Amino acid sequence: MKHFVAAALLGSVFAAPVAAQEIKIGYALAEDSHYGAGARAFEESLKASLGDQFSFRHFPSSGLGGEREVLEGLQLGTVEMTIASDGTLSNFVPEVGVLGIPFLLRDKEHARAVLDGEIGEEMLAKFEDAGLHALAWGEQGFRHITSNRGPIETPADLEGLKIRTMENPVHIEAFRALGAAPTPMAWPEVIGALQQGAIDGQENPLSVIVSAKLNEVQKNLTLDGHVYSSTIILVSPSLWGRLDDDQKAAFEKAADDAVVAMRAYVDEVDASGVAQMQEAGMTVNELSPEQKAAFRDALAEPYKNYEAQFGKDLMDRIQAVE
Ligand code: PAF
Repeated sequence: MKHFVAAALLGSVFAAPVAAQEIKIGYALAEDSHYGAGARAFEESLKASLGDQFSFRHFPSSGLGGEREVLEGLQLGTVEMTIASDGTLSNFVPEVGVLGIPFLLRDKEHARAVLDGEIGEEMLAKFEDAGLHALAWGEQGFRHITSNRGPIETPADLEGLKIRTMENPVHIEAFRALGAAPTPMAWPEVIGALQQGAIDGQENPLSVIVSAKLNEVQKNLTLDGHVYSSTIILVSPSLWGRLDDDQKAAFEKAADDAVVAMRAYVDEVDASGVAQMQEAGMTVNELSPEQKAAFRDALAEPYKNYEAQFGKDLMDRIQAVE
């Protein structure tokens, strides 16, 4: 017995510490962006719940490639985690594309209520069939147009504008109907294409415009808020499958904490971003509700296609959320 106790004590003294499991997390923007804020909050929350069971390696600024490539990495199990935009994710779960319909979501409160409610839950659940595990909806904010051509006040001002869009059919159809020349492109190529003049403009929320310093390559910012842009926090099914119940609960809590951090960042940049961009030399114009209505009216044809594609019921359900 004495020998057994001594051996057990020795064993515990010399037992190799259990190595932390490394989580590679890739995202499109810098560490000081809303993506970085969400990723950091996730990491801190997980550490508070589970101690050193997991260690994080961040790959900001598309360090693991564009959003599509990183998501494919999650499907293969070569990357453990990402935060990615709904614009890209609709290529994996087509129903998510409904969120990209311009002017469908009224404001951030409406968008958050939709995503935090039944509709958002239903969409997150669909990612299992796409070989991804979706934890929660993060946020980017409402998308606005930046360009190097004069301010955009009416749909006619978009005529022929080579505007980079996400690789998202809903966005592309809308910009085409407005008379622009939409040029779908993965995000890592955008700054270079703007620098070289291969495109005239792009569209993204203030969170992206400010954190990616688009003022360095764009002269005008038109606050039109045409589309609400969300994100999803996802993990690879291979990581998720290795977690026990306590770890899964800690991941879910960490995702909720990341959402809070992302939304706080977006609220802050929505309040201060315009002034920052003006100080940095951008000319900013904000569309009035009447001017926005002209853009919405010009989208009558695409709206018919959106209804056929996503179902009027789903669009009505989204609009009915208070
Ligand atoms: O425009 C995009 O591609 C996305 O909004 C971005 C900047 C990659 C963030 O998800």
